[in-house]
Amino acid sequence: MRHVLTLFDLTSAEIEEISEITEDLKTKLAQGVREPLFPGRVLALLFEKQSLRTRVSFETAMAHLGGNSLFLGKDVGWGERESAADFGQVLGEYVDAVVCRANSHAKVEALAEHCNRPVINGLTDTSHPCQALADLYTLRELHGSLTGLRLAYVGDANNVARSLAIACGKLGVEFAVAAPDGYQFDTEFLTELEKKLPTMSLVQTTDPHEAVAGAVAVYTDVWASMGQEGEREERARALAGYQVNSGLMKQAASEACFLHCLPARRGEEVTAEVIDGPRSAIVQEAGNRLHAQKGLLAWLLRSTG
Ligand code: CP
Ligand code: NVA
Repeated sequence: MRHVLTLFDLTSAEIEEISEITEDLKTKLAQGVREPLFPGRVLALLFEKQSLRTRVSFETAMAHLGGNSLFLGKDVGWGERESAADFGQVLGEYVDAVVCRANSHAKVEALAEHCNRPVINGLTDTSHPCQALADLYTLRELHGSLTGLRLAYVGDANNVARSLAIACGKLGVEFAVAAPDGYQFDTEFLTELEKKLPTMSLVQTTDPHEAVAGAVAVYTDVWASMGQEGEREERARALAGYQVNSGLMKQAASEACFLHCLPARRGEEVTAEVIDGPRSAIVQEAGNRLHAQKGLLAWLLRSTG
């Protein structure tokens, strides 16, 4: 029984295996085949933040696999009505796996500690592993192979950026992040990357032009994540020089695509010209959340009874 709280929880070979299952299931779906591999299995979606992509793609994935899902919002009182231990143990008695989206990563860790079913992180303040799995799958679709490619992330070095960094490190993709001081990866995360992925190629800079040079994908995310709405103006000022616009895209490789986890704020972290332009792969990327999550579910559920 495995939890996926960050991509450090998966080996490179396991990520490759999930990617192969994803590819197989995506190909079959395109042929109209929805194999009910897990009839009667139930996935709980325990969310304390809004979601379109993560929620709908997991629910749809589970339906395609022949199972069911339960959306659990505030009404179940996670963290409010009973102890983390009681909550996690009892939930594990009912369902086959749990996807959760929480304000704090520690809350998801506490759930996983007590739940005897796989817990999948559907986004926390520090991590968004399912997003990065889909993104690297998309990059491979676009470029054929991943080894030696460079992905540039420009903007706030947030939860999405962290998961992308780990995914890139695991799959041999060079990761370059450009963010202003105060919005970069902290020393603790950099030390963890260095320790767990010693051969990874990582560049952290304050210069967006340096980060995108030679990159085949330019990625950004909102400057104020969910829960940071009160800092929106301050963040917009600090990150103003980190907008992905056509001038910056010109500095990347000629074949570079634009990626964004969505939702996006046009005119802030990215211009409409770029996100709605010919190099943008955002719809393919968001669509791949369904396939990648189906791949992850199939990989996790096949080893549980
Ligand atoms: N990218 C992403 O996770 O989107 P949602 O917040 O809509 O799930
Ligand atoms: N960084 C964003 C990602 C949303 C998918 C957030 O946490 O709100």
